[in-house]
Amino acid sequence: MLFDTHAHYDDDQFDTDRETLLASLPEHGVGLVLNPGCDLESSRKAVAYAETYPHVYAAVGIHPENIEGIELERDLPALEALAKSSHKVRAIGEIGLDYYWVKEPEQRRFQAEVFRAQMRLAGRLQLPVIIHDREAHLDSLTVVEQYPAVRGVFHCYSGSVEFAKRLLDLGYLLSFTGVITYKNAKKAVDVVRAVPLDRLMIETDSPYMAPVPYRGKRNSSLYVYRMAEAIAEIKEIPLEEVITQTTENGKRLFGI
Ligand code: NI
Repeated sequence: MLFDTHAHYDDDQFDTDRETLLASLPEHGVGLVLNPGCDLESSRKAVAYAETYPHVYAAVGIHPENIEGIELERDLPALEALAKSSHKVRAIGEIGLDYYWVKEPEQRRFQAEVFRAQMRLAGRLQLPVIIHDREAHLDSLTVVEQYPAVRGVFHCYSGSVEFAKRLLDLGYLLSFTGVITYKNAKKAVDVVRAVPLDRLMIETDSPYMAPVPYRGKRNSSLYVYRMAEAIAEIKEIPLEEVITQTTENGKRLFGI
């Protein structure tokens, strides 16, 4: 049974077939899905899907690209209430830093403030975190080091082998998208080879990042098997072992 640990079913690319697609996943071998939120509205939708489908779980969070207009005194309590509203909320995410899209120092400072507030929330609620780190490796590390009691995953991992080892030492897991199926993905492939199987998870990041041979199409959890195949090939181990262990890792992290 496969576990797609990161998919955004609130995206409007799923408006035409969301219900049938989500309902059909278990019969295609995808027994678990975690849908993270990116702002309050998408977090509410994530909780609604989790309440509707037994195999879907939710995370709630404010993504670093969605901090415009955020007021922590108003929005953080709302996020906390949402996290407590359903036993199927199993993480705070996705949260983190994005320096690819955000260049302005003042905005980056505010990203870090929103990130830290959500790390504290995760600590209070004893929930793991789902971290988005794009071109902000060192600053992301600085923040997670400040909250040693919090565990989680660096999703769509894009750092080096050396950086991966520092995250593993802090107790974090790494998860991989369709990027590991791309021809130019040497860096990610090296990381997959170096990281023990019991610290890896797989995800689609749907509707984005579709794996080969679906690259450029709308992604969905139906394609998560491609990441398992890629890891099996890179690590030269049986596919079944990758599927079983990555699902086990996700269940352990998210308390499923
Ligand atoms: Ni995402």
